[in-house]
Amino acid sequence: MNTPMISPNIVVCESGPDAARHVADLLASEIRTKPDMVIGLATGGTPVDVYRELIRQHREADLDCSRVTSFNLDEYVGLPSGHPQSYRYFMQQHLFDDANFSPAKTHVPDGMAADLDQYAKQYEQLITQSGGIDLQLLGIGNNGHIAFNEPGSLMESRTRVVELAEETIDANARFFESTDQVPRRAITMGIGTILEARKIVLMATGESKAGAIAEAFAGVCHPSNPASALQRHANVVVVLDPPAASRLGS
Ligand code: PGA
Repeated sequence: MNTPMISPNIVVCESGPDAARHVADLLASEIRTKPDMVIGLATGGTPVDVYRELIRQHREADLDCSRVTSFNLDEYVGLPSGHPQSYRYFMQQHLFDDANFSPAKTHVPDGMAADLDQYAKQYEQLITQSGGIDLQLLGIGNNGHIAFNEPGSLMESRTRVVELAEETIDANARFFESTDQVPRRAITMGIGTILEARKIVLMATGESKAGAIAEAFAGVCHPSNPASALQRHANVVVVLDPPAASRLGS
């Protein structure tokens, strides 16, 4: 933790849809510049409009994703890929099925792997063998988590199985019939894994993220807010809408 802090580049867009377009343009421009890039992808409510815009650019503006390799951040433990709330299913529904990604080049952690610890190591190896992540897309939890690295996670952490925080289970219950159905464990890239990406784009919208954003980027780097670890990365862009930015500088 002796690395000097580097201010992230913070972009406040006029609205959530504008933020999504801005992020999609950043991703699309990387893909156009380096068609065989390695991209890190996220799930959740935040990237849905980003992916919709990428699909639009694929259909209407010749965006070619066929040579892109992708690695998703995380997956629930115990949900098969065909489960409507699994992150593999999410990615197929919201992006992969409608843009021309090559199925063999898309990677989402397997939450059903027989030996999850071994699988987590293999996922790391696969990222390394692919040449490392060129651009990682991130959301942020209300509690400051990035991927499923909950408060208290080590900055050096690698891909592993984690227990979800109660706030995360509550926040994600909206996607399930009841809170009881939300898995309690997940497999997630670590903060150390994420920090190795050459470029990071974090997007957040809505007032519920304002506190986590302010702590992450206007406060000190501390494990109580995992996203604050991004202060140690030299190439981070934070894309916000006005409500998410409302507590920066306060
Ligand atoms: P959300 O989740 O996009 O559904 O708000 C973000 C996160 O938990 O990282």
